[in-house]
Amino acid sequence: MTAPTDPPVLPTASYAVTAATGHLGRLAVDALLRRGVPARNVFALVRQPDKAGDLADLGVGVREADYDRPDTLDPALEGIERLLLVSSPTVGNRLEQHTNVLRAADAADVGFVVYTSVLHADETELALAPEHAATEDVLQGSGMPFAVARNGWYVENYTGRLDEYLARGEIVGAAGDGRVSAATRADYAEAAVSLLTGDIADQQGYWELGGPAFSMTELAAAITEVTGMEVTYRDLSAEEYTDVLRSAGMDEDTAAFVTGLELSTARGELETDSPALENLLGRAPTSLRDAIRAARL
Ligand SMILES: NC(=O)c1ccc[n+]([C@@H]2O[C@H](COP(=O)([O-])OP(=O)(O)OC[C@H]3O[C@@H](n4cnc5c(N)ncnc54)[C@H](OP(=O)(O)O)[C@@H]3O)[C@@H](O)[C@H]2O)c1
Repeated sequence: MTAPTDPPVLPTASYAVTAATGHLGRLAVDALLRRGVPARNVFALVRQPDKAGDLADLGVGVREADYDRPDTLDPALEGIERLLLVSSPTVGNRLEQHTNVLRAADAADVGFVVYTSVLHADETELALAPEHAATEDVLQGSGMPFAVARNGWYVENYTGRLDEYLARGEIVGAAGDGRVSAATRADYAEAAVSLLTGDIADQQGYWELGGPAFSMTELAAAITEVTGMEVTYRDLSAEEYTDVLRSAGMDEDTAAFVTGLELSTARGELETDSPALENLLGRAPTSLRDAIRAARL
């Protein structure tokens, strides 16, 4: 495998990143530039170009690309050689949206596609997985060379709730002792760019990506250690947890969905022992404690 610290194999290729106004897409654009790809070879594909002024200021090309509007996708992908397709946040519509992008990529003769999927997409009961697995099938069926970055949970799913955990003094869930191999968005973005810029023959295939695993009890302990404020984990039954969500104002369907994610965690569906993330980064992923520290700054 190409060492992750190698310079891009095709420094003059044209790279595109979708959803580049989002957290992950933006971090991927930054990672491409940090790897030495000239800004003129980097294209930020965005739904709302007026939100991308800071990207244009970096010298990258900004192109309109709305997953729901195929008319924007053909021109957006013209001349692109390598594409990072960041999965859509619109659960329920994603297969159609991703298929629109992949059809346009195929028509534009894109030579390599990296798609951000989810851990164990083809063999998990995680409610979010079927759309990812179906997208992976479309990608495989397209005949385009591809790599699938099957990302685990973002650490930010937890550190983004730090204030709430600290205010309550507890994390409430139904994840039992289930462990989560979470990593920071920045690490996933860097790994995706490592795939995107590497030797295609080495990078093709499915990559299960995640950081060091922790349970919710271990998360609470790490928060306590880093902040000096005691936080504990309170584990509830699925029914109790759904009630807590509903009484906090969540609608029935969303509460059932969120509870389902907790049960997936309890079953270990968000855990991986794959070293792929570390290998792609060429270093250890950001630790949970460092991520908590960074979120406190
Ligand atoms: N692994 C995890 O824990 C985890 C957690 C949450 C999400 N995800 C997945 O990872 C993806 C990236 O995460 P993130 O944190 O970067 O999400 P994010 O910050 O919410 O960004 C989502 C991006 O999707 C764009 N978008 C929405 N609808 C679109 C459309 N129709 N056409 C084109 N772009 C569209 C948004 O554009 P605008 O800026 O115009 O709104 C935004 O740039 C998410 O979309 C989701 O699929 C993973």
